Amino acid sequence: MQDTILENKSETIASSSSTSAKPKLGFLGVGWIGRNRMEVIANNNAGEVAYVSDTAPQNAEEALKSAPNAKQVGSLEAMIHAPEVDGVVIATPSAFHAEQSTLALEAGKSVFCQKPLGRNAEETRRVVDAARKQNKLLGVDLSYRYTEAMQQVYKVVQSGELGQIYAIELVFHNAYGPDKAWFYEPKLSGGGCVIDLGVHLVDLALWTMNFPAVKEVNSHLYSKGKPISMAEGKVEDYATASIALETGTNIQLSCSWNLPAGQEAIISATFYGTEGGVALKNVNGSFYDFVAERYYGTKSERLSSPPDEWSGRAGVAWAERLAKGEGFNEEAEEFVKVAEVLDKIYGR
Ligand SMILES: NC(=O)c1ccc[n+]([C@@H]2O[C@H](COP(=O)([O-])OP(=O)(O)OC[C@H]3O[C@@H](n4cnc5c(N)ncnc54)[C@H](O)[C@@H]3O)[C@@H](O)[C@H]2O)c1
Repeated sequence: MQDTILENKSETIASSSSTSAKPKLGFLGVGWIGRNRMEVIANNNAGEVAYVSDTAPQNAEEALKSAPNAKQVGSLEAMIHAPEVDGVVIATPSAFHAEQSTLALEAGKSVFCQKPLGRNAEETRRVVDAARKQNKLLGVDLSYRYTEAMQQVYKVVQSGELGQIYAIELVFHNAYGPDKAWFYEPKLSGGGCVIDLGVHLVDLALWTMNFPAVKEVNSHLYSKGKPISMAEGKVEDYATASIALETGTNIQLSCSWNLPAGQEAIISATFYGTEGGVALKNVNGSFYDFVAERYYGTKSERLSSPPDEWSGRAGVAWAERLAKGEGFNEEAEEFVKVAEVLDKIYGR
């Protein structure tokens, strides 16, 4: 793992429990993302895959093919009551994240959970409070922070060389929609493209700007071309939002599923300041390939280019921090701040 600018940004309290050099981990939910994160952690030698659990036994069996020494168990409870387990990696459908994370934390395990940590700010707050109370390391898979391109963008913004940053433009259009039914059920997903894709972008903008206070949020949500509100029991497949920060910076967000985008995906986060701009952008409609570009008036300079194996890096970083014995970190409050902005976008 590259030496990222993501580690040890704020106060860390050493965990009270002992941790081994290579933490023993339980993996709960090993579908598409869960299996990928498990394999990346194992391939990077950042953690030992001790347990695997999934309500679909065939998914657990598939996962065991790449973790032959792991034990398959029937539930989260079986993992969290195993004294040798240091942490639990959760990649179940979003509705379960907060409850499962809280259970694991209350049992004294550290947690790395898929985004969103909760379906709303209240759920998210509950998990963060449990991590604080137990002094356990809580990570969320905010995977785009760990792209090389975003690391470059972060460095430029943090250096101050862009002057006063007054505008941030965020875009995440996915020309496909999720292929699992629960994504379209607001009670299970917490929302549509905003909580699925927008969550990453809102996090990128606030993180890069050091999480300034949010003054005002206005938004428009659509489903199949018609304006909707969350109260209708539908999830949005297109959304725009304007987020005004107390610093005077304005954030414009657009995100969607199934947009006729002319390519598979359009993903970008662009920061404009009085002295220039910088952007993270996907290339050729790719979900995986990103560049960072620095803008000087009409001129542009490339700061980073693919290839970049970023998938799963956030989980590796969490496991490495766990191995060092890290406990609760104040950074976890950032998960609540992002969830609060999402609640405002949804008008709840
Ligand atoms: N960080 C990212 O960039 C990123 C990218 C994609 C998806 N995700 C998130 O990952 C999560 C999973 O998405 P996915 O596409 O892998 O879904 P998936 O359906 O492929 O995987 C979910 C797995 O959880 C299992 N499961 C369901 N309920 C369970 C329970 N109660 N206990 C244990 N296992 C259970 C399912 O059988 C399945 O194997 C979602 O919350 C999604 O938002 C994050």
